[in-house]
Amino acid sequence: MERTLPYRWDAETNTLWLIDQRALPQKEEWIPVRSAREAARAIKEMVVRGAPAIGVTAAYGMVLAHLAGEDLDEAEKLLAASRPTAVNLFYALEKMRPHKGDLEASLKQAREIWREVEETELAISKNGARVLKGQVLTHCNTGPIATGGYGTAIGAIVEAYRQGRISHVWVDETRPYLQGARLTAWELQKAGVPATLITDNMAAHFMKLGEVDQVIVGVDRMAMNGDFANKIGTYGLAVLAHYHGVSFYPALPLSSVDLSLESGQDIPIEERSAEEVTSIKGVPIAPAGFPARHPAFDVTPHHLITGIVTEKGVFYPPFDEALRNALAQN
Ligand code: MRU
Repeated sequence: MERTLPYRWDAETNTLWLIDQRALPQKEEWIPVRSAREAARAIKEMVVRGAPAIGVTAAYGMVLAHLAGEDLDEAEKLLAASRPTAVNLFYALEKMRPHKGDLEASLKQAREIWREVEETELAISKNGARVLKGQVLTHCNTGPIATGGYGTAIGAIVEAYRQGRISHVWVDETRPYLQGARLTAWELQKAGVPATLITDNMAAHFMKLGEVDQVIVGVDRMAMNGDFANKIGTYGLAVLAHYHGVSFYPALPLSSVDLSLESGQDIPIEERSAEEVTSIKGVPIAPAGFPARHPAFDVTPHHLITGIVTEKGVFYPPFDEALRNALAQN
């Protein structure tokens, strides 16, 4: 599959180059990042986004903190405060913590986190492909640009198409940030997978017509009972899928499971600027000053999930038992 990754590490100049995802798909612009402060800003401002990609960027952010001579504890705090919902950010910072003060070890660990993303996503793609057939619907963006690997839900979709299991993908636009329209459509086009863009409010219509066989989405943080946070609109899709008897699968690496949470009720939900709702790419679409809200994620309860796709296989209820067993082997 032709894939564009969200970053590259230039070892000669000690620079992390990030593709500016805010400008895609119209422009491919690369931004140099040379300190943890710049890495945190890039995450916060969505230059780089997607749970696994945020984690890898934070890991390299810690490498850059060593190189730039920043205070390492401050650097970690800055990176941890950049976005609250995706647990991968905290997973990566935890993996980096024992290597504070040792540049070589910290670079090695950052590379290892990136390598783990690639390896787990190959397995997720293969496992996910097995549960897909016919026409699939997906939400937000979960491809290589969101992960640095092969993608989670999109990895499974591309693999299922390659195996001739699916014929077509419905791509939710994903208001308000348009990750589906801008990024998923772009990635599926490059991968040569037949796909059609719809606005989020069209999903029910196509489910009712019998034109959606499964929904597969990514995950920003999953609790031990299977409840999970993902891009705003995922919960609504799960309710629609349940009503129409459509199978619903989250796909994730086990590193996106938060062992400290029994249920999804304590997952922190990022609240972003209301301007992202009242305007599109800087063009106002609502009366000036009109109040708006922008929770960037929602939580889908586990009872709406058919199966959980991971690198260790597809898990069916009871999810808490399956997740506990899989994590115990990790
Ligand atoms: O706000 P974003 O664009 O970072 O949100 C991304 C998502 O919600 C993805 O579905 C999730 O991170 C999984 S990426 C494999």
